[in-house]
Amino acid sequence: MKKVLSGIQPSGTLTIGNYIGAIKQFVELQHEHECYFMVVDLHAITVPQEPEKLREQTEMVAALYIAAGIDPNKACIFAQSQVPEHAQMGWMMSTLTYMGELERMTQFKDKSAGKASVGVGLFVYPSLQAADILLYKADLVPVGEDQKQHLELTRDLAQRFNQRFGELFTLPEPYIHQVGARIMSLEDATSKMSKSSPNPGSFISMLDEPDVIRKKLSRATTDSGREVRFAPAEKPEISNLMSIYSHCSGLSLAEIEAKYEGQGYGAFKKDLAEQVVATLEPIQQRYKEVRASGEIHEILRRGSEKARETASVTLRQTMEAMGFLM
Ligand code: AQP
Repeated sequence: MKKVLSGIQPSGTLTIGNYIGAIKQFVELQHEHECYFMVVDLHAITVPQEPEKLREQTEMVAALYIAAGIDPNKACIFAQSQVPEHAQMGWMMSTLTYMGELERMTQFKDKSAGKASVGVGLFVYPSLQAADILLYKADLVPVGEDQKQHLELTRDLAQRFNQRFGELFTLPEPYIHQVGARIMSLEDATSKMSKSSPNPGSFISMLDEPDVIRKKLSRATTDSGREVRFAPAEKPEISNLMSIYSHCSGLSLAEIEAKYEGQGYGAFKKDLAEQVVATLEPIQQRYKEVRASGEIHEILRRGSEKARETASVTLRQTMEAMGFLM
């Protein structure tokens, strides 16, 4: 069975972008792969987090995984910080990474733009991400388009290590859905929808109430035309909404175009809101049940135990190959 690994940062309430770009793929992949799905709390602290919120959001992400359909008996769900091998392996990988490689990362450029001071953790985050993936010798990494560059670095580091210290790591492949790989902000189609955005109108959270979803989508920015047509360069706002519609309804982009031909944006946006509500409501219901059951701690404990079985072996192999006393 091929190995799959991915993770989401507990840096806010997950958005429909995280759902479409990542979790939906996780759910599909768990049936025929050996899967590891992390809550990447060590990554989250690369920007300031309030301790209480971080704890709550870590549980929230794990519960949302389960509510969205990841079966903890099939996939290994764990918090990154509970597997200390990640931090150790992160150090090994950072020593193999060049400054120039990290300076080129667009996510670093975006997240550090305009900030007076930027933490070193944010800069070396891609090296830790490489460690996450290589520890499990993952074959496939389901991610949104924004993470593709980090995956390329992981492959480069794996290759560099293998050449220098002997063949150890698998070169992982990104697993990216064609439509909706990058869901954009509802207010500005040039920037990615992000859970940590200070502006709640820019994203739909997976836990937004139905009426909030309806309101946000009715206010979503569109062009001044009235043609529902998928043309990302020419009509980025409507194309973005169409991607969300397609993922929530199962209709293809061509089917959506045909359905709304000659109808303008009003009817399309109204139906889109109902599709999103229908997608998220059952997840929200299940989320409440999972949180009320109090089972998250035990699931994460079991997950970290299982993850360590693999991670500890790979870390040992890595350190041995690099020349550490064992
Ligand atoms: N807008 C998006 N469209 C498609 N996929 C997305 N992902 C994130 N945003 C979108 C995918 O979700 C996974 C988890 O991302 P992450 O939490 O590790 O970091 P991120 O990419 O930085 O996500 P956010 O929501 O933008 O978080 P913040 O605001 O904290 O930076 C990844 O697979 C990502 O591709």
